[in-house]
Amino acid sequence: MTETLNIGVIGLGVMGRRMLDRLSAHPRLRACLVWDANPAAVAQALQAHPHLQAATDAAALIGHAGLHSLYIATPPAPHMALSELAFDAGLAVFCEKPLTVDFAAARACIQRIEQQGQRAAVNFALASAPGLALLEQAFGQASSAAELGFGALDEVQLNVAFAAWPRPWQAAAGSWLSERREGGFTREVLSHFIFVLQRVLGPATVTRSAVSYPADGVGAETDLQAELQAAGCKVSINARVGGNIADDNRMLWRAAQGEIELSTWFSQIRQQGGSSALDGGDTDSLRALAQTDQLDQWAALIEGRPHSLPGYAEALAVQETIEALLLGR
Ligand SMILES: NC(=O)c1ccc[n+]([C@@H]2O[C@H](COP(=O)([O-])OP(=O)(O)OC[C@H]3O[C@@H](n4cnc5c(N)ncnc54)[C@H](O)[C@@H]3O)[C@@H](O)[C@H]2O)c1
Repeated sequence: MTETLNIGVIGLGVMGRRMLDRLSAHPRLRACLVWDANPAAVAQALQAHPHLQAATDAAALIGHAGLHSLYIATPPAPHMALSELAFDAGLAVFCEKPLTVDFAAARACIQRIEQQGQRAAVNFALASAPGLALLEQAFGQASSAAELGFGALDEVQLNVAFAAWPRPWQAAAGSWLSERREGGFTREVLSHFIFVLQRVLGPATVTRSAVSYPADGVGAETDLQAELQAAGCKVSINARVGGNIADDNRMLWRAAQGEIELSTWFSQIRQQGGSSALDGGDTDSLRALAQTDQLDQWAALIEGRPHSLPGYAEALAVQETIEALLLGR
């Protein structure tokens, strides 16, 4: 099947405009209609992509004839209501993480998805990363652990640090990103790694979490130190605003016979039998592979074919762990 699949985009901030750039290179997915509550964001998107049409509001975009899918790149608060409107119109939905902080609305939405067979997925960039596939092969439930030879998993360590929050590339995002109600690095960045952890090992339980916030009562967390358990394995998190690297992230999976490290999002280093090697190519090539695969998976979602994107239930399970981390214990 080679039909063009028409995409409507709501939310044209940092992420929405990045996705428009990526979509413009895909052979089948075609962004055609956009809307944002901020007219300046619409104007910027139209300037960069003159073929786009602007809708008058969210309902008009979602109801537009000929659309196949809605991409939601607003901050979390409207994610559920926009998803429901899109399902009413028979659209497949690709929604940004974090899914929501309104768990009741998410559960109702998930029930509808399951009962009606709605097509919905959430954008965790690492879902299409070769590094995740390697971890699943090495340590996942259906893994060929013996074949890859890493042996039993001992522990997982996650270290992230940001010279400043928000990071430079998201500095133009709305104030929500630096506020504790919806934003912060735990929801924004740790959620990607909790997704990886739970996709490979299953549900995680927070056993200890210490969170520091600024004294103003509004700003998002500045430090989070935590321990979790997943599939009987200890997981430790050391996350903070500090250091001099814009976006430092390393997830180390240490096992009896070797280790795998994901770093700078897409790099994967495999250490085994006394030798250490960058696995699968450089970060940029691995990122490009993941981004192309993600769009292919989105096309499969729209067409009702099997795909590897996380659904809303998987994304809610991630968010439950994230909010438990933020509650502290
Ligand atoms: N998957 C990833 O790798 C990744 C990366 C960055 C951001 N994100 C996610 O993408 C989403 C957007 O982040 P961002 O950095 O682009 O934020 P942003 O603040 O730059 O952009 C959000 C845009 O949504 C618009 N908006 C807000 N409420 C709206 C509504 N009800 N209807 C229509 N438009 C509305 C705002 O005007 C703004 O233009 C967030 O959920 C964020 O966590 C995901």
